[in-house]
Amino acid sequence: MNKAPLGVFDSGIGGLTVARALFERLPQESVIYFGDTARVPYGPKSPDTVRRYSGEILAYLLQRGVKAVVVACNTSTAHALTYLKERSSVPVVGVIEPGARAAVAATRTGTIGVIGTAGTIASGAYERAIKALRADARVHSQACPLFVPLVEEGWFEHPAAELIAREYLEPLKRAKVDVLVLGCTHYPLLKPLLARVMGPEVKLVDSAEETATAVARELERLDLLSNGGTHDHRFVVSDDEPHFRKVGAVFLGEKLKHVEVAPL
Ligand code: DGL
Repeated sequence: MNKAPLGVFDSGIGGLTVARALFERLPQESVIYFGDTARVPYGPKSPDTVRRYSGEILAYLLQRGVKAVVVACNTSTAHALTYLKERSSVPVVGVIEPGARAAVAATRTGTIGVIGTAGTIASGAYERAIKALRADARVHSQACPLFVPLVEEGWFEHPAAELIAREYLEPLKRAKVDVLVLGCTHYPLLKPLLARVMGPEVKLVDSAEETATAVARELERLDLLSNGGTHDHRFVVSDDEPHFRKVGAVFLGEKLKHVEVAPL
């Protein structure tokens, strides 16, 4: 039994979709969420830079006494998960392996589409994780860099968002994927639009719920679950707290209390 908080981090706001799944799956746990709003986006940055930023956030969360760290950011998971695990005194869980697991469970044909930031797609991390679970899977990947700013703008159903989605997703439709992995924290907010563009026969997989299940399993295995009582969620950003509060409420589906600013 362990009352220490879980650390969750992302390049910015998007990881709140993962935090939300954790709140639902593990209601007795307290969470410290760190959003690196001063340095978002991570998607176009080099692996070295993303590793350095992620390492700094890990050090910050460890110093706040977390009992485990959830890397909610797909780009960070893609470039830095191994690096973080090597440097952490507590368990570290990323979003890619759980997302891959959900995709492999959902596919009938073995033809899987993956969308994500430029960094996530270039890393090949989803493809490797999917093929480790199902060697004969055919993975078609597509970077969708314009989706993050569209979501930050709140343009979930804007005609411009639809036009861009049709352009990005056309090759995946042509490849006849039967599952589309939303390999980025922001994409779950575009789900209705993406579902319409891909058509009813394509299942959309988002890694948030599967990640929450993986975290619950890991905490239980290591006897780190909290024994209930009151929980306390804290949100920390490296910059621009007003924007985080405003857009964050949409991601989380509720108002954010206790937002601190901590430039790293
Ligand atoms: N959080 C990032 C991810 O899931 C998206 C935003 C960014 O590019 O930093 O890949």
